[in-house]
Amino acid sequence: MDQREKWQSSFGFVLAAAGSAVGLGNLWGFAYRSSQGGGLAFLLLYVLVVLIVCLPVLVGEMVLGRSTASSPFIAPVKAAGDSWKPLGWLFAIASCGILSFYAVIMGWTADTFFHSLFIGLPIDMNQAGDFFEKISSGKSVFIGQILSLALTALVVAGGVRGGIERLTRWCMPLLFALLLILAIWASTLSGAWDGYTSFLFRWEPSQLLDKTTIRNAFTQAFFSLSLGIGIMVAYSSYLSKNNKLPKEALTVASFDTAVGLLAGMITFPIVMSFGLKDAVGASTIGSLFIALPTGFANLGVFGRLLAALFFGLAFIAAITSSISLLEVPVSSLMEQFGWRRHKAVWMATLIVFVIGIPSAISLDFLGSMDSIFNVLLILGGLLISILLGWVVPRKYDEDLAGCNSNQRVRRYLKFMLRWVSPPVIAFGLIISIIDLI
Ligand code: TRP
Repeated sequence: MDQREKWQSSFGFVLAAAGSAVGLGNLWGFAYRSSQGGGLAFLLLYVLVVLIVCLPVLVGEMVLGRSTASSPFIAPVKAAGDSWKPLGWLFAIASCGILSFYAVIMGWTADTFFHSLFIGLPIDMNQAGDFFEKISSGKSVFIGQILSLALTALVVAGGVRGGIERLTRWCMPLLFALLLILAIWASTLSGAWDGYTSFLFRWEPSQLLDKTTIRNAFTQAFFSLSLGIGIMVAYSSYLSKNNKLPKEALTVASFDTAVGLLAGMITFPIVMSFGLKDAVGASTIGSLFIALPTGFANLGVFGRLLAALFFGLAFIAAITSSISLLEVPVSSLMEQFGWRRHKAVWMATLIVFVIGIPSAISLDFLGSMDSIFNVLLILGGLLISILLGWVVPRKYDEDLAGCNSNQRVRRYLKFMLRWVSPPVIAFGLIISIIDLI
């Protein structure tokens, strides 16, 4: 058997993990979920869920990967025996399912990028509707989906170091720089303050108890951190013993939250300044593809350039995430059947493409996939916290002690993983299911 690959450096691992976390979920999800009425209450709940519930689970996923040095499909069995086989299946199915519709949205992003540069953007809401119709149906949606999957497959086929780490190493700094530039520009728009206060920072205490706001906070936290479906298991299985996982998990989570906020600070000023509030009022996945291009187009050629920057950076963010999604089935196929990386990559890509066809054809189907798989993430998170908090708690201790991480931090994480994460995630899961139905 080949020697298991390793990351070249811990910084490379952190960047790849942050790259997985930062994606369309931050640029779209964050903005559209906070605009669904939650405002500051959503933000607050979201940060709480990340700090109290998600961090210990994130570290848990990392421990599971590193201590077993196995793919997500096998890791639960190696850690706790055959009765945990279904968790491996959950990881494999959920990652393929999410990637299947994620690639469709990546396709829309790429298409909008090309329109900004070469064709032109809609200048009012009527045109915007037609524009979205065009990019999200017919032939163009398949071209976008196939292109996105093919690029993802190419990077993953390059391997952990030669593909994933190499791409994220230059993409992540670039992404952050572009975001900063755009956020500063957006803050100079006339409606900027209005934009922040009417979406992001609007304070309505009653929203703290609203079912949809709670579900949004949970799904956003899990989706955005790429938690609950074995991504971090896969990435951490290529780690060495001395990475300080708690610190790295905190870096990833902070970076991810910062990017979500920055993205909101770009989108909302644009929405307010160009009178596009109604377009995001009844927020759906598509609304920002309708509102944003229109906003940018109002600024003429300069606006098209900015739009190209924004959608270009969104695509970069998306591809550093989609590769992490593909790595889950790929590493699992390689380990389960002893396949070479290339064979596993093309097989997994083909499966994901086929599952994605209904999402490419129907927006409603895509929306349902999004809702259903988001619930599966939360379920995955619950099972991981039970596995590492209760079934094999010593793995968590031993692994973290092995990397010499701070003892107080370790105790805190362990306590949260056992006593806080499981009940709170279970609560979030129940509320989400009720709200969904
Ligand atoms: N976190 C990414 C985003 O914010 C998407 C993503 C990548 C993801 N891997 C994941 C979501 C695993 C859920 C689970 O866009």
